Amino acid sequence: MTIFVTGGAGFIGSQFIRDWVSAHPGDTVINYDKLTYAANLENLAGLADAPGYQLVRGDVCDPEAVHAAMPEGCDVVVHFAAESHVDRSILSATEFVRANVLGTQVMLDVARARKAGRFLHISTDEVGGDIPEPRAFKEGDPLEPSSPYAASKTAAEHLVNAAVRTFGIDAIVTRTSNNYGPYQFPEKLLPLAISNMMADRPVPVYGDGLQVRDWIHVADNCAALRLVIAKGRTGETYHIGGRNPRTNREVLGLLLDILGKPASLLTQVTDRLGHDRRYAVDCTKIENELGWTRTISFEDGLRATVRWYQENTGWVARAKSGEYREYYEKQYGMQHGTMAR
Ligand code: NAD
Ligand code: DAU
Repeated sequence: MTIFVTGGAGFIGSQFIRDWVSAHPGDTVINYDKLTYAANLENLAGLADAPGYQLVRGDVCDPEAVHAAMPEGCDVVVHFAAESHVDRSILSATEFVRANVLGTQVMLDVARARKAGRFLHISTDEVGGDIPEPRAFKEGDPLEPSSPYAASKTAAEHLVNAAVRTFGIDAIVTRTSNNYGPYQFPEKLLPLAISNMMADRPVPVYGDGLQVRDWIHVADNCAALRLVIAKGRTGETYHIGGRNPRTNREVLGLLLDILGKPASLLTQVTDRLGHDRRYAVDCTKIENELGWTRTISFEDGLRATVRWYQENTGWVARAKSGEYREYYEKQYGMQHGTMAR
């Protein structure tokens, strides 16, 4: 089988590729990635000798480059590539529209021209917007994105569904809740909090910290994606969640306990603009229809994740250098590595 993955050098894409290559060593896996700030080839270092694995550096907005990289008749396209961080989309949205919206249309066009098989589009529970208690977000509910990031992901989903209806392509959309696990870029809450706590640095808590997110281990998410590729129905959308809603303060409290650090590290900062209060994805459909279920409990997953960051301080330090520092200082108005604020 030949599988074409976009964004495979990022957090979820690299987990997906590592898992796929280990389960199907005879397959050809092409990782097409622009290698933006969020990419990290260290995440794929173990694949250097895998015979079927290839990395192609390229932009999903460049149709000729995607066309050249995608083999005619490839079996599966998994489209992860995107600008993925909400705060960055608030600082500047243009690249989100380009990469996430235009990039998805280019991928659809090229997949059709190259007669690719199944097209799996990776979307997010954020397209549903704020979900007030006690509602859960179901696949057929209206889409009400709040941030420029979520709006760009919503537009991309519409383009995928339009291609299914208009051209009959074999596409499926998945919407996952907040992933956590190893190799996540430390701009996101969990790796940022773990690495700051490890260094006794303040952890920025947006607003009152009572926003609710549903957390799923990245390996559970990737198992669900493999199942959707194998058994999902064309034109359908599947929600993937951890059935694990937590306030940010609750999650940070667990991390403090695991690391044995004081609560005084939690530092309230100005809230995110337009901050969604609650996400609550209903994943009954994938459970009932495809028999998927989460296997990693949050407590176990969190402990293993903390251990990974403790054992990989070099990875964290390299990820937190360069452009990251500039971004961090702009975002929080405090120098990275100081106790200001
Ligand atoms: P990430 O930011 O860690 O990685 C994104 C990858 O895409 C990087 O390797 C980057 O180089 C690549 N990329 C970005 N723009 C590109 C372009 N124009 N052309 C080619 N490659 C490009 O993201 P992630 O957290 O791994 O998320 C992957 C996907 O899953 C995204 O589509 C995101 O919207 C979605 N998602 C993420 C989460 C989460 O919790 N992280 C949850 C739900 C959905
Ligand atoms: O829900 C799925 C989404 O999860 C994905 O689509 C996105 O790609 C991914 O980035 C993630 O978005 P969030 O905005 O939920 O994740 P983030 O890690 O940025 O923030 C999680 C929560 O923690 C959110 O309520 C904001 C808050 N936060 C975040 C950071 C970085 C803080 O309080 N302090 C922080 O320093």
